[in-house]
This record gives sequence, structure tokens and C-alpha cells, in this order.
Amino acid sequence: MFMKGKKGVILGVANNKSIAYGIAKACAAQGAEIAFTYLNDSLKKRVEPIAAEFGSSDKVYACDVSNPAEIVALRESLEKDMGQIDFIVHSIAFAPKSGLSGRFYDISKEAFDIAMDVSVYSLIEVTRELKPLLSNNSSILTLTYYGGAKYIPNYNLMGVAKAALEMTTKYMAEDLGKDGIRVNAISAGPIKTLAAAGIGEFRFMLKWNEAHAPMKKNVTIDEVGNSGMYLLSDLSSAVTGEIHYVDGGFNIMGMPAVSFDEDGKQTIAWDGNK
Ligand SMILES: NC(=O)c1ccc[n+]([C@@H]2O[C@H](COP(=O)([O-])OP(=O)(O)OC[C@H]3O[C@@H](n4cnc5c(N)ncnc54)[C@H](O)[C@@H]3O)[C@@H](O)[C@H]2O)c1
Repeated sequence: MFMKGKKGVILGVANNKSIAYGIAKACAAQGAEIAFTYLNDSLKKRVEPIAAEFGSSDKVYACDVSNPAEIVALRESLEKDMGQIDFIVHSIAFAPKSGLSGRFYDISKEAFDIAMDVSVYSLIEVTRELKPLLSNNSSILTLTYYGGAKYIPNYNLMGVAKAALEMTTKYMAEDLGKDGIRVNAISAGPIKTLAAAGIGEFRFMLKWNEAHAPMKKNVTIDEVGNSGMYLLSDLSSAVTGEIHYVDGGFNIMGMPAVSFDEDGKQTIAWDGNK
């Protein structure tokens, strides 16, 4: 039981396809006590049964991270119901649809500000607000994607937000290390979730990743969850500021692998129309 005695809060469960759900499952299986948050009333109905599944019916709180008052209210509720906590999972991102396809240079300032606020600044604000509750052996985890490190078609505005989130992870890791707080990010391969549905040509991303990742497969929320559990537990007690790829190895590829046909002619190993 790697998480026995650990208490924490997971922000970002929308349904049982969410990456945050995979992380909750892995942490609960290792004995963690978990509080959950939901974005709005329609998601509350989805999150409540999930919290119940993990024995946390009494620890479900509203938290729209674009509303600072809701982050303060979350801290007050957690303090009352859990006291000290040992981990925070930030599995939240949002960009207006106009920023997730089309010409990059058309991105509006309004869309840019929203994406940065919800997907990046929220990690700083949630951490600052909840810091008084964090133990001096605690761990914060956020979720990023390869489109924050390299160009990925259509990822556009979210790519810029993820680049900022990854640097935020590193600066926070340095700042909070002296307080016994570790900060890491998992860069997950593409997974079909609610958030992913907003990205243009997402199905093509899935196909491409599966065809070209060294492991020739897409990753699951259980696999991301298990790696997340490692980063939240004492198993990773000397790991901070890391961008940890859980993507079947996709990020190591410089170009697609090639194969040869019977005549020795080089062919690209993937038929995109399959
Ligand atoms: N699915 C993928 O392919 C993939 C890959 C790498 C990284 N990620 C990242 O993983 C994280 C989780 O996404 P997911 O794919 O599990 O999708 P998801 O839709 O299940 O989760 C996204 C969550 O963000 C929450 N959210 C959005 N705006 C919010 C706000 N203002 N306040 C509070 N919560 C808000 C939603 O309610 C939802 O729970 C995101 O940061 C995403 O960018 C996803």
C-alpha cells in the first residue's frame, strides 16, 4: 500500500474516462484518501458517484478554477474535512475551440487569456491557496502533452499553454522544494476524453501515435494513473520538476520508423488510410 495514510485532492474528474479518474483509481488502490472537485452542476452529477466509488461521498467540492472565490472555498472545506493533505492532482485544461484548429496566428487575445488562466495560472493559484494545508512531504502533479514541447497539428493554443505549464512545473518545483513539496508533470500520450474531443483531427493523432510510438500502442488512463501514483507517493521521494512521458515512447522518435518490402524498397511503416 504505497499511499496508505496519504490524503489529497484531485481536481479534474469529469467522468470515468478522465485521466484524473485513472489517477484516483491507482491512488485509491494503494490506500489513499481522496477529495474530488467538479467544475459545474452538470458535472457534479457525474463526479458524485465516482467519489462514492472511492469512499469519498463526503468529500466532493465545487471548484471552477477561473473563480478565485471557489479556490478559497475549496481550501476552507478541505481544512475542515481533511486537515492536512499530502497531494494535489491538477488535471485541468481548457481552451476555446477557436484555438484548437485553423491558423495559429488567428488566435484571439480573449481565447489566449482564457486558456492561460484555466490551464496554467490555476496550478499556481491552487497551490498557493492550498499550501497551508500541505504536509512537508507532499507532491503535486499536473498533466501536460507533447504539443507543449514540439509542434503538433491543431494543438495550437493548448501547445503554448502546455509549454507554459511545463515551465511553471519547474519553477514551482524549485520554489517549493525547500518546503518539502515536490511538483511534477506527466506528459501523457493522446487518450480519448472529453477534453480531447475539442482538438481538431484528434482521431488522426491517436492513429499516428499508435503507429509510430515504439510500443505501437496508445496509452490508457490506468497506465497514466499508475505513473501518477508513483509521482504522488514516496516511491518518487527525490523526483521533482520532471516532465515524465507516459506515451509508449512516442516522444523519443525523430522520424517515423521505416521498413523494407520484399524487393528491398524502403516503405513508410504506416498506411494512414487503414
Ligand atoms: N486526453 C489527452 O489526450 C491528454 C493528453 C495529455 C494531457 N492531457 C491533459 O490531461 C488533463 C485532463 O484532461 P482529460 O484528457 O482527462 O480530459 P477531461 O475532460 O476528462 O478533464 C479535463 C477537466 O478539466 C476540467 N476543467 C475545465 N475547465 C475548468 C475550470 N475552469 N475549473 C475547473 N476545472 C475545469 C473539466 O471539468 C474536466 O474535469 C488536461 O490538462 C489535459 O490537457 C490530456
